[in-house]
Amino acid sequence: MAIKKIGVMGAGLMGAGIAQVAAQSGFEVNLMDVEERFVQKGIAIIEKNLKRQVDKGVIQASQVDQIRGRITTCLSPADLVNGVDMTIEAVIENLDLKKKVYKELDSLAAPGVIFASNTSALSITEMGSVTNRPDKFIGMHFFNPVPAMKLVEVIRGYGTSDETVAVTKDVAKKMGKTAIEVLEAPGFVVNRILVPMVTEAIYVLQEGLATAAEIDEGMKLGANHPMGPLALADLVGLDTLLSVQQHLYEEFADPKYRPPVLLKKMVRAGRLGRKSGKGFYDYS
Ligand code: 3HC
Repeated sequence: MAIKKIGVMGAGLMGAGIAQVAAQSGFEVNLMDVEERFVQKGIAIIEKNLKRQVDKGVIQASQVDQIRGRITTCLSPADLVNGVDMTIEAVIENLDLKKKVYKELDSLAAPGVIFASNTSALSITEMGSVTNRPDKFIGMHFFNPVPAMKLVEVIRGYGTSDETVAVTKDVAKKMGKTAIEVLEAPGFVVNRILVPMVTEAIYVLQEGLATAAEIDEGMKLGANHPMGPLALADLVGLDTLLSVQQHLYEEFADPKYRPPVLLKKMVRAGRLGRKSGKGFYDYS
């Protein structure tokens, strides 16, 4: 099955990045969000990223219009699935919301359309179970910033077919990504390892052992990480990070995954990292 057109649901940081990389790789894209202002924010992210690539000489200025021309924006699930072979969903990490979205998409999309979720940690099997196509339901987990990060985790739910896995890996490859195939489990592979490391950095800060800048400097210079764990938390979004931590904690029922109180407080205060202008660092 050849995928030509992809519906991307959610025009936030991840959805916009996925739509950009898909369009840049030659796929036609329907990009949907629930309000015009969210769609426009997503388009602004894409245009900024494309401009950065033009400035760096990665692409020609003339290519920007071609890439933009492959992206159609819309505000309804019915328009999202119009003519698509696959959808990639990147809405907020709320399982009930995602299940509601998938029930509706399932009733609107042609039976052959593959549903891929960009969830950071939630159950592919549970989302797939509300549809009549668990064999065509899969996880396709991109990393932030999507245009820069080369990995996609392809996650097999309980009912995912071999064909769906093969088609999804092929799409990832055409997007210039390297796919690793992962059996479903909370946090999959990368977040299962990465998130507890970031959590530990927040505990170190909470205990007052070092400042945020010193913790980050330590991990950059002492472990050769491209950015420190607290700067990474701000990049990912503190609300997203907390939702992954909570999911790991609940699913494994193991105290080693407990979320730090400091992080909960920051999220409750609306300090969500780069996207809100303040997190462990001030971006205003
Ligand atoms: N958006 C899009 N592209 C970006 C970008 C952004 N915000 N920031 C940087 N890039 C691209 C640049 O265009 C450049 O691409 P090029 O090689 O084609 O020119 C490349 O990234 C490197 O950029 P720079 O040289 O300007 O910047 P750095 O060398 O400082 O790298 C970084 C920036 C790529 C963000 C690097 O610091 C990094 O790799 N950080 C770690 C990111 C990470 O671990 N992400 C995973 C988070 S976990 C996750 O997403 C899972 C989720 O489920 C929670």
